[in-house]
Amino acid sequence: MDILVAGGHGQIALRLLKLLADRGHTARGLVRNPSHAADLQAAGAVPVIGDLENDASLSAYVKGADAVVFAAGAGPGSGPARKRTVDLGGAVKLADAAADQGVRRYLMVSSIGAQDPASGGEAMRAYLEAKAEADAYVTARADLDWTIVRPGHLTDEPGTGLVTASRELGGRGPVPRDDVAAVLAACLTTPATIGVTFELFAGSTPIDEALRF
Ligand SMILES: NC(=O)c1ccc[n+]([C@@H]2O[C@H](COP(=O)([O-])OP(=O)(O)OC[C@H]3O[C@@H](n4cnc5c(N)ncnc54)[C@H](OP(=O)(O)O)[C@@H]3O)[C@@H](O)[C@H]2O)c1
Repeated sequence: MDILVAGGHGQIALRLLKLLADRGHTARGLVRNPSHAADLQAAGAVPVIGDLENDASLSAYVKGADAVVFAAGAGPGSGPARKRTVDLGGAVKLADAAADQGVRRYLMVSSIGAQDPASGGEAMRAYLEAKAEADAYVTARADLDWTIVRPGHLTDEPGTGLVTASRELGGRGPVPRDDVAAVLAACLTTPATIGVTFELFAGSTPIDEALRF
C-alpha cells in the first residue's frame, strides 16, 4: 500500500512510518520542515514537503495514496488559533484532498475527551473542540472509509502490543506511542475498524484481538 501520514515528523507518525516501511509499504510522511526529511528517510519513509496550514489544498500530496493518516497536531505549546488551523483545519483539508483523489481510507489520531470538550477543563477546551469538530467532519462523509482512534495520555514507554480498545467513550489512562502506531498500522488491514470511533489505552488484549469490533 501507499500511505500518506500527515504530521510525518510527529512522534507517533515516525513510529508508524517505520512500521509501515518495514512491512514493505510505501510510507510517505508529509512534513513542513525540509530539515525533517532525513529523519523520515532514516525510518525508511519518503518525505513529502508540504504545509497543512499554509497550502490551500493537499491533493497533490495525497495523489496515488491508498490510505491517509492524520497524525499532526499543533502541540501543547500552541494557542487556540493553531488548534483551529492544524488540529481542525489540517484534518479537514486532508479529508477534502482524500475525497478529491478518490482515496477512501482515512485514519484519524484524535483524543480521549473529544466526546465532551468541556471535560478537560479550560486548558484543554480549544484542543478538544477542534478534535471534536474534525472528527465530526470526517465521520459525516460517505465518501471516506474512516476510523477515529482516540488515544489516552501518550507515553514513551516501550510498546507491549497489549491494549484496550473501547467504543464506549469517556475512559482515561495512558497508552504508549509505540502501541498507538501499531494499532494504526493494524487498522489499515482490519476492515472491521471502518466506521468505528474507539478509545485506546494500555491494556491486556493483543492488538489484533482488540480490534475485532
Ligand atoms: N499528548 C497526548 O497525551 C495526546 C493524547 C491523545 C491524542 N493526542 C494527539 O496525538 C497527536 C500525535 O501525537 P504526537 O506525540 O505524535 O505529536 P507530535 O510529536 O507533537 O507531532 C505533531 C506533528 O504535527 C506537525 N505539524 C504541526 N503543524 C503542521 C503543519 N502546519 N504542517 C505539517 N505538519 C505540522 C508537527 O511538525 P513541526 O515539527 O513542523 O511542528 C509535528 O511533527 C497529537 O498531536 C495530539 O493531537 C495527544
